[in-house]
Amino acid sequence: MDGTRRHLVAVVGAGPAGIFAAKELAANGVQVALLNRDIKPGGLAEYGIYFDKYRMKSGLRAQFRQILAQPGVAYFGNITVGEGRDISLDELRRLGFQAILITAGAQGTKWLGLPGEDLDGVYHAKDLVYHYNRLPGYSQREFHIGKRVAVIGMGNVMMDIAHYLISEKQVEEVMALARRGPAEVKFDRKELELVEANLDLDAYDAEVDRVSNIMRSLGEDPQQVKEFIHSTMEKALPTRSSTHFTMHFLVSPVRILGDSRGRVTGLEVEDNTLVMGADGEIKARPLGTRRTLDVDTVVFAIGDRVDEALGLPMEGSVFAVCRQPRFPQEGQSYEVDDPDDPCLIKDVFVAGWSRKASTGLVGVARKDGMLGAAAVLEYLSGLRLLSEAEVTAAIQKIEAYGKPAVTRPMLEKLEAAEQERARSLGLEEYKFASNEEMIAVITAES
Ligand SMILES: Cc1cc2nc3c(=O)[nH]c(=O)nc-3n(C[C@H](O)[C@H](O)[C@H](O)COP(=O)(O)OP(=O)(O)OC[C@H]3O[C@@H](n4cnc5c(N)ncnc54)[C@H](O)[C@@H]3O)c2cc1C
Ligand SMILES: NC(=O)c1ccc[n+]([C@@H]2O[C@H](COP(=O)([O-])OP(=O)(O)OC[C@H]3O[C@@H](n4cnc5c(N)ncnc54)[C@H](OP(=O)(O)O)[C@@H]3O)[C@@H](O)[C@H]2O)c1
Repeated sequence: MDGTRRHLVAVVGAGPAGIFAAKELAANGVQVALLNRDIKPGGLAEYGIYFDKYRMKSGLRAQFRQILAQPGVAYFGNITVGEGRDISLDELRRLGFQAILITAGAQGTKWLGLPGEDLDGVYHAKDLVYHYNRLPGYSQREFHIGKRVAVIGMGNVMMDIAHYLISEKQVEEVMALARRGPAEVKFDRKELELVEANLDLDAYDAEVDRVSNIMRSLGEDPQQVKEFIHSTMEKALPTRSSTHFTMHFLVSPVRILGDSRGRVTGLEVEDNTLVMGADGEIKARPLGTRRTLDVDTVVFAIGDRVDEALGLPMEGSVFAVCRQPRFPQEGQSYEVDDPDDPCLIKDVFVAGWSRKASTGLVGVARKDGMLGAAAVLEYLSGLRLLSEAEVTAAIQKIEAYGKPAVTRPMLEKLEAAEQERARSLGLEEYKFASNEEMIAVITAES
């Protein structure tokens, strides 16, 4: 610190949105405390992006490292913010933080409330993704993946899960299920290439033929969707397994069946048709006919919701935001609000997947974080600047809330230890699987 008077902001969550928001705030003279649940920064860029995308992940890590080294950004990992967690929003206010930007991602689970969701062998994609990317708490949890797996959803997360099941678990069967049709899928060509060698193309064509009349009734072209899939085939990456991968359309899960030991024995689905909604969007409508799929594992890859334990008002699966924002950015609201008591909350802002759960790539979260920061900066312009002593006192007190709090020099030590371990094991990279191992390395006498 240099004796300059400045504003003081807490950014909650060090994924791409929070890290780029911190950069923007610090560049504009704000002192930021960047509080993160995980010891390591990066969020889903560290623990979501598929583990073998080494180049992409190390490029992102380098950018994050640079931002955390900026004066004006104080990183504190291993601190969870929320009601009944390490530190609450009110405690942050009492420490003197003038605004709080929530960039904690979408950590809540979006269940459909179906009978059988509690059976052994039913998982949410996020948990499995955290498991194979070695996020402490999930890395050592056991996942009972059987031989025949249904994955609900047709987005890129489904593709990542299919990739894991095909390449790592080498299961017999992966069935991806979509409630809508082949023209409404949300995955990208690039992600399809990773698993396409296992896709049963004849079965895919037959499935498109099965739903082609419904597609045509809405002006969709079945031939076009077939061509999309077939045209990517030449770029399909070689496979390591004989997993049979199929896609199924116009089906919604209604019940998961289990045996006396509580294990999954099947998935009951209902057929849908497609209708044009009043908003111009194509929607699934149930037909009432049901059938049972022979699977022993079910994974929901249908997106996530935000974490209610942060203690903020909710609207659906996200935090409620002010409909008439004081500081709109590109026409959007970044201001958390209580719909029952508008304008009660003035100092809490939201960005990234905490604002729009499960939406977009790293670049989208980065831009959203920066827009959230811009809204915070406008809010701060009406507040007094704090003295260096006030800022330092608040930042120093934060450290007491961790288990312990992990600061940037500690991260550097951890990173060096992981690199050393990777070298000695001859691996591309190595990650300690538990917080205890990481803390032991960080606190060891060097
Ligand atoms: C499986 C999967 C694969 C993906 N692959 C790609 C890809 O290949 N390429 C790409 O561009 N994008 C990919 N994405 C999308 C990308 O990861 C997201 O767009 C981006 O990470 C969202 O950023 P965020 O900062 O909003 O949230 P997150 O990345 O989720 O970060 C949230 C951060 O908040 C912290 N946190 C949570 N709760 C609290 C709390 N209570 N207190 C303090 N801290 C908290 C977490 O520890 C985390 O560090 C993928 C997403 C998923 C789910
Ligand atoms: N490699 C990558 O680049 C990568 C990897 C993973 C994730 N991501 C990104 O991360 C974001 C989130 O991905 P995502 O796959 O979780 O979300 P997504 O792209 O929105 O896909 C979610 C899927 O779940 C279905 N679904 C949602 N609610 C449902 C319900 N109630 N019942 C049945 N099906 C339901 C959706 O169907 P409807 O269309 O009918 O709603 C859709 O097929 C995306 O932006 C994605 O691109 C990128």
